[in-house]
Amino acid sequence: MDAIEAQGELESFIDQALHRGICIQERVEERRGGGEDGNNVTDEVAVRIRGVSHQFGEQGGTRYVRALLDTSLDIRRGELLCLIGPSGCGKSTLLNIMGGLMEPAAGTVEVGNQRVRGPMPQEIAFVFQENALFPWSTVIENVKLGMMFQGVRKAKRESRAKLSLEAVGLMDFADYYPSQLSGGMRQRAALARALSLETGILLMDEPFGALDEQTRMVLGEDLSVLLSRTDKTIVFVTHSLGEAVFLADRVAVFSARPGTIKEIIEVDEPHPRKPDFITSEKFTRIRNRLYSLLHDEIRKAVSQSAVSERVAADESSREAKP
Ligand SMILES: Nc1ncnc2c1ncn2[C@@H]1O[C@H](COP(=O)(O)OP(=O)(O)OP(=O)(O)O)[C@@H](O)[C@H]1O
Ligand SMILES: [Mg+2]
Repeated sequence: MDAIEAQGELESFIDQALHRGICIQERVEERRGGGEDGNNVTDEVAVRIRGVSHQFGEQGGTRYVRALLDTSLDIRRGELLCLIGPSGCGKSTLLNIMGGLMEPAAGTVEVGNQRVRGPMPQEIAFVFQENALFPWSTVIENVKLGMMFQGVRKAKRESRAKLSLEAVGLMDFADYYPSQLSGGMRQRAALARALSLETGILLMDEPFGALDEQTRMVLGEDLSVLLSRTDKTIVFVTHSLGEAVFLADRVAVFSARPGTIKEIIEVDEPHPRKPDFITSEKFTRIRNRLYSLLHDEIRKAVSQSAVSERVAADESSREAKP
């Protein structure tokens, strides 16, 4: 490809991205302001989850765990939905089921009109807490590798990698190795790799979980800017109440295990969100509501682990007796 062709491709990519940005803005405005009663919800469903339950191990066995129970949810196209809930309530399990990495014991997930039966690399990309970059490849090579696995033509990989690195502010570090980056920069690189795949859906499992609070805040602000420019549907697992309120269009609060959705909270605030949203009365009100919903569930989760530890201790003392 010569320079003029590459330039043309870049321009059409930017055009498409801008067009998608405009489309989502229109949809968001339609959703938030539309209709005579101001409540004209016209949302398209990106992911449809129906009656999903899952358990690990054999029933009656010592390792039997009911992780998820009869969970149903419609995820709207273009929204960022946060999943929040006590540790072990099945958030990652649900994310893995949505992404086709795991088959549910019961229930279905549909993306568009297609039932999820395995990974769908054209539709769904992942970002995990552990960024899983290849340490022997540079940042840009890592991004290109993701596209290679997805089957993107070689000629397109370079320009798409550069655009996604620019989107996360890492273009100047394209030739660095992961070990030469900070933790926050590594997560940006992982995000760039996921963005370069141009999937409509991005599943993020505690992507900023291992980072310090200040870095998380900055990455959160960047993600909100990104959201305002694209129509990606993002499902984002977090333990941070503040992060959930700052980023989410809606927050799904999970009960203790077996997890199911206890309540969904709307955060009616346009993207990109400004840092002063964090100090607003609205932010505090929603955060407090989340806290009160979660508090009882976290207590239950803690007492569940105490009970299972006691059972395990009883079993091992029985085994130890002659
Ligand atoms: N591969 C597995 N084999 C056996 N049990 C599993 C497996 N994966 C998860 N579990 C169990 O299922 C339950 C739900 O796990 P999951 O990882 O989905 O929770 P989570 O909500 O993501 O927790 P955290 O917030 O700590 O990441 C837990 O009790 C966990 O021990
Ligand atoms: Mg998890």
